[in-house]
Amino acid sequence: HIYADAKDASRAVAREIADLIREKQGAGKPCVLGLATGSSPKTVYAELIRIHREEGLSFRNVVTFNLDEYYPMEPDSLQSYVRFMKEQLFDHVDIPEGNYNIPDGTVRVDKVADFCRAYEARIESYGGLDFQLLGIGGNGHIGFNEPGSLINSHTRLMMLDHSTRAAASMDFGSLARTPRKAITMGVASILAAKRVVLLAWGERKAPVIRGAVEGTVTEHNPASYLQTHPNALFVIDEAAASEL
Ligand code: GLP
Repeated sequence: HIYADAKDASRAVAREIADLIREKQGAGKPCVLGLATGSSPKTVYAELIRIHREEGLSFRNVVTFNLDEYYPMEPDSLQSYVRFMKEQLFDHVDIPEGNYNIPDGTVRVDKVADFCRAYEARIESYGGLDFQLLGIGGNGHIGFNEPGSLINSHTRLMMLDHSTRAAASMDFGSLARTPRKAITMGVASILAAKRVVLLAWGERKAPVIRGAVEGTVTEHNPASYLQTHPNALFVIDEAAASEL
């Protein structure tokens, strides 16, 4: 779906999420959301906060799993995704504190594999993700599944690409201070969601969106794996659609 701008697009995505939360509430069930960081989802979170305030949408039945976190990373660091999610969404809605899950950037290196298995088991214990929100890196990464990630990859520690670190170095002050690794949900973990919505805004994303949507399914552009999902949608603005 191509929208005139990110605001219109974000409104439509937030509406879909709000409707899903209400539907699950009606059925007395948790609504299990996979969430993303980066600049793209910020407008969706802002719109969800508006719906919470103005329409009384409750998040009490919402359980969330974030895609990724830098490694190592302290949760109260400026650049942590824990802090990002609190600032952009969790602190402004009534989601219970135990209901949100973000990969733990403080786990000991020899415990990371166990942590990743437990993270996936926890998602499974809720019956899997009802909805997964995604951004896309300039190199096609989803979560932090960098090019080369396989379609059957699971939650794991990933070495970040140079281009990813260069983009993130703005937040960390320098490339030297930017983490080299991250814990990310795998491609298989993402594709297991019942519904996947990927957001992309701006001309900078146009080439990678073209590859993901019209190119072949390839590990060189991990977002292209969404072509194999039965219920995935790219929600983009006109600038990101300019090479389609
Ligand atoms: C980071 C995140 C990704 C996100 C990407 C794009 O690498 N880990 O999940 O999709 O940034 O960010 P932006 O939305 O700011 O372009």
